[in-house]
Amino acid sequence: MARGAQVGVVVGSYNARVGLPAAIEILRAGGSALDAVVAAVKLVEDDLTDHGVGTGGIPNLLGQVELDASIMDGTALAAGAVGAVKHYPHPIEIARKVMEVTPHVMLVGEGAELFARYHGFEPANLLTEEAEREWRRCIHGDGEAPGEGNAWEDQYNLYMRVVKDWTKLLHKEIFGTTNVIARDREGNIACAVSTSGWGFKWPGRLGDSPIIGAGNYADSRFGAAACTGRGEMAIRAASAHSVVMYLRQGMPLEEALRTAMVDLRALVDPFAERDNVMNIVAMDREGNVAAASTSAAARFVFQTTEMDDPEERPRIHVPLREE
Ligand code: GLY
Repeated sequence: MARGAQVGVVVGSYNARVGLPAAIEILRAGGSALDAVVAAVKLVEDDLTDHGVGTGGIPNLLGQVELDASIMDGTALAAGAVGAVKHYPHPIEIARKVMEVTPHVMLVGEGAELFARYHGFEPANLLTEEAEREWRRCIHGDGEAPGEGNAWEDQYNLYMRVVKDWTKLLHKEIFGTTNVIARDREGNIACAVSTSGWGFKWPGRLGDSPIIGAGNYADSRFGAAACTGRGEMAIRAASAHSVVMYLRQGMPLEEALRTAMVDLRALVDPFAERDNVMNIVAMDREGNVAAASTSAAARFVFQTTEMDDPEERPRIHVPLREE
């Protein structure tokens, strides 16, 4: 993308392409970066074909869809996050509410659901037939599905049957999550992240998406970054914050991204034979955008207020092992 301050720009993970035009419309009308990122992420949360975010997300080990989300206002350095939230289709809106009306940053589980209910958010069924079929196929195999009796006992018995080797049951392919970063005409940068997390995760597992500094960080003075992929890695390396810190130290955007990706190589990991995919999208203070991935095939999307449609770009490839 051309260098020089961008009046309005949005960048996101590839699956955010369904949401970018809505964000751009808000920026064109003079709206805020915060409104733009929330509008974009809500559309991804509603995309039933996306099995890593919102409704339609692949459930946890127990067949429950648990959602995580976070938002950061890079001008106030304010943030809100929710984790392991069931029944509410737009966790990004709940995260924003946490940021705006509480002295807290993160609410999880039943407390977050209580907060959502208290603020009038509408519950919904998040488990689509397709996602449930995938859960039954992978977790039950040809075995017996839970019965019709006591739901808790059924779930508990299932849990106990699979628990010995449960890490092998973690879904092999799906590391959904959506990232959207926007810069508005005043130069405010906001960043929003939403996910249903790692398919068949342990109930209550949080990845990087709701953790400020790991999967999401924004500071309008320097830039912003957000991650998708195996969140445990971004938590351990504080990846989103690292990118912004490298920008603060004066690195150009692509070098900041590369350096944060190379940092991941130091992580000692007994689970490394499983998919270790990490992706970061980032924006500098001027609105220049770039993204990096451990996978050579990964892409990202961006759109400016002058563009009719989002544009796809390849990410900088930074393999986990030095080649
Ligand atoms: N990056 C999303 C997660 O690990 O849950």
